Order: sequence, then structure tokens, then C-alpha cells
Amino acid sequence: MIHNNNISIKQTEDGSHTLYNKELDETYHSSHGAIQEAIHVFIKNGIDSIFSKEISVLEVGFGTGLNAILTHDYAKRYNKKISYTGLESFPLPKEIINKLNYRSEIPDFDLAIFNKIHKSIWNQNNIIDSHFGLNKINKTLQEFITEDKYDIIYYDAFGPRAQKEMWEKYLFEKLFKMLNIGGKFVTYCAMGQFKRDLKSCGFVVECVPGPPGKREMTIGFKN
Ligand SMILES: C[S@@+](CC[C@H](N)C(=O)[O-])C[C@H]1O[C@@H](n2cnc3c(N)ncnc32)[C@H](O)[C@@H]1O
Repeated sequence: MIHNNNISIKQTEDGSHTLYNKELDETYHSSHGAIQEAIHVFIKNGIDSIFSKEISVLEVGFGTGLNAILTHDYAKRYNKKISYTGLESFPLPKEIINKLNYRSEIPDFDLAIFNKIHKSIWNQNNIIDSHFGLNKINKTLQEFITEDKYDIIYYDAFGPRAQKEMWEKYLFEKLFKMLNIGGKFVTYCAMGQFKRDLKSCGFVVECVPGPPGKREMTIGFKN
């Protein structure tokens, strides 16, 4: 259980904010740069190589909505239509969201869209604009059951040291079933046991260079 008073804002090395969870002693993003990491892992090594015009995304750990706003920005730029599902066990209060400095740190940041993303109703489909549909689901990954299939999964859980239960193999088996054939799973994590688990669930695993400050990150393909 996460409590509001355990969350504080921290500045990362690229100037952008992240959140620090005192209880877990863990930040929401890399201390080397929150925006830099999100763009590198989830946009450049994630959605950017999915060539269809319509793309369904599942994010595990919706948090600040940083990956959602960056994905919206990507969709607008490349004229894509995204259906975005964000799983989150602890929706952040708006007092915290409003203090984040993404508006000054993301070029062409669309504040109206960011606000719309955060004001959208939980556990139902929301139309953000012609490029972006959003369903934020207030459930844990462990509880989440769906018949839907996704083209890409952004796995942005807290790291294995802070939240070991998010890195158990049965969750990757579950996520593998939720992916379309040809779909892909991306995460910042590059731990050996985790990669072996992904492989044994059926993923074809590729390691690519990580964002600044991290040697590697992981992509899992469902071929
Ligand atoms: C590393 S942070 C996420 C960062 C987020 N993508 C962002 O850019 O702000 C991990 C997130 O996972 C959420 N979380 C923790 N346990 C979860 C669970 N069992 N299922 C879904 N989300 C969970 C946390 O509340 C937190 O928001």
C-alpha cells in the first residue's frame, strides 16, 4: 500500500522531475533523466518500430502519465491512432501531478492533453482526441484480466529490488498471452534472471543499449 505522504518530487539529471517513494526507497524513473529514459525505452525502442497505423498499448504502472503524454505526442506527429490502456494500483493525487515540470521540459508539451489524460475517468474508455483513446484501469497487474490483445506492452513497474513481486515469471506468462503475434514487450530492466524468465515464457529476447546511465534494456518479441 502506497501513501501520499510517502511520495515526494525529485529532479533528475536531465532537469525533469520524477517521484520518490520513501516506503520503497525507489524513484519512478531513472535519476539520470526521467524524460530521457521514457523517450529512449518506450518511444525510440518501443512504439517507434510498430508500423501499423492503429496501435494498442498496455502500460503497466501508469504513474505520472509521462509515457502516455509522450505516446500521444508520437501519435500526433506520425498520424497514428493509439488505444492506450494504463494499469495503476495507486493513482496519484492531482496535487502531485500538478507540480511536475513536464510542461517546461518536454518540447511542444500539450498541457490541455496532459490535463485531459489526468482528468479522464478511471476504468472506462475516454476519447482524448482523434489520435488517442485512453482507459486507465485502477487495478494491479495481478488482478487484471482481459480478453483484449495489445501490440505493445510498456513494462514500467518499480525495479526488482523495490518490488520483487512485479518480476515473477507468471506475470510475464500472463502478459505474453495478452500480446498480439508480432507484438513487443519493452522495459528498462536488464536483469539476467528476468531475461531468462522472459525467454522461457516464449519471448524472443533482445538486449539493446539502455538510456544514459544504463548499459542495457530489454525487448521481448512475440513472433
Ligand atoms: C516506476 S513507477 C511508474 C512510472 C510511470 N510509468 C511514470 O512514468 O510515471 C511504477 C508504477 O507502478 C505502480 N504499481 C505498483 N504496483 C503495481 C501493480 N501491482 N500493478 C500495477 N501498477 C503497479 C506504482 O504505483 C507506480 O505508479
